[in-house]
Amino acid sequence: MRHRWLLIGVCGWVLFFLIFGSRFFSLSRRALDVYVGKPETQSWTPSTTKDVKSHTALEWGKRTPAPGNQPSGGPSPADPSEWQSVVMQRLELLRSFCSNSSLRNLTHTPLSKFILDRIFVCDKHKILFCQTPKVGNTQWKKVLIVLNGAFPTVKEIPENVVHDHEKNGLPRLSSFSASERTHRLSTYFKFFIVRDPFERLISAFKDKFLQNPRFEPWYKHDIAPAIIRKYRKGRSSDGAPGLRFEDFVRYLGDPAHQRLDRQFGDHIIHWVTYVELCAPCDIDYDVVGHHETLEHDAPYVLRAAGIDRLVSYPAIPPGITHYNRTKVERYFLGISKRDVRRLYARFLGDFILFGYERPGFLLD
Ligand SMILES: *[C@@H]1O[C@H](CO)[C@@H](O)[C@H](O)[C@H]1NC(C)=O
Ligand SMILES: *[C@@H]1O[C@H](CO)[C@@H](O)[C@H](O)[C@H]1NC(C)=O
Ligand SMILES: *[C@@H]1O[C@H](CO)[C@@H](O)[C@H](O)[C@H]1NC(C)=O
Repeated sequence: MRHRWLLIGVCGWVLFFLIFGSRFFSLSRRALDVYVGKPETQSWTPSTTKDVKSHTALEWGKRTPAPGNQPSGGPSPADPSEWQSVVMQRLELLRSFCSNSSLRNLTHTPLSKFILDRIFVCDKHKILFCQTPKVGNTQWKKVLIVLNGAFPTVKEIPENVVHDHEKNGLPRLSSFSASERTHRLSTYFKFFIVRDPFERLISAFKDKFLQNPRFEPWYKHDIAPAIIRKYRKGRSSDGAPGLRFEDFVRYLGDPAHQRLDRQFGDHIIHWVTYVELCAPCDIDYDVVGHHETLEHDAPYVLRAAGIDRLVSYPAIPPGITHYNRTKVERYFLGISKRDVRRLYARFLGDFILFGYERPGFLLD
């Protein structure tokens, strides 16, 4: 009798551990992961030709919360068919302005090495991604690095390797021959992300000249003094040491800005136009995501690229992608209308191609 009770007790404990132990394990693993897996059953079409094997290599995607039951904080994917129409409308707008010959100078650009250097290649999943800093590009690069197979998970990519193209296994389009480039440009899925042009400049200014968190001393030590020397008014009597947004605006809006640009090399990627970075009218992109609606665009891009079962975009902190007019007003306060209008003239192509509203509150 006692033996039987003992046996039942032991079985009970084993059952208890099997149920709650594994549950606890999977929950804590999930909480540790930056990326949260997508439901297995969702949007899997048999016609897809993507490599399913890398699924297991990717670690995430296995522990899958039910649809509509994602941990809080994650982006809630919009209805894909609904978002599809938004994406298509954006492309129509883009194409209509691209084909307007009187806007040619603002919208077209030669496919130079500078542009081919901006575009990253994922051959395994046939994806091209044009890098536009200050819109969460590091996350996209990490996703592509993992998909290319250089690292098994996003968490295992050392921070210093993400942007080190010797080591990250993420080739640039410029590293391929002309025929290989043409093939990829005409057959691969192509995308990039944009945001309000002026807010983007504020973000670049803050990141490179005020905070400079990644220890890139050349912005403060070389580039800022060169801009100040050329563009600051009454420089000798003015004690302010660092670059001011006003100086930066004057440099960017100068029709002859290219003389300094050449001196600065590739660092200008943080403030040249999207037209100059990604040639949106010369390359037929499939999706142009908007930072302001990244919660919808990120899952849409993953789905359209056929990689939504392999990866998902990390949780986007609420509010950070929203356009903040107060911030824009504050930065432009005291900058002359003439300088703002010149800046707008330079970035006009980016405003119209991607449907960003003319900032009348700064210009009129
Ligand atoms: C082209 O753009 C110009 C300037 O914005 C505009 O006046 C003109 O109507 C456009 N042409 C077409 C065909 O849309
Ligand atoms: C476009 O650029 C070319 C060469 O830079 C220049 O000659 C032409 O006047 C420009 N056209 C417009 C409409 O700005
Ligand atoms: C907008 O920017 C201002 C000024 O930088 C800041 O005080 C405010 O908190 C921001 N608003 C939001 C919603 O982030």
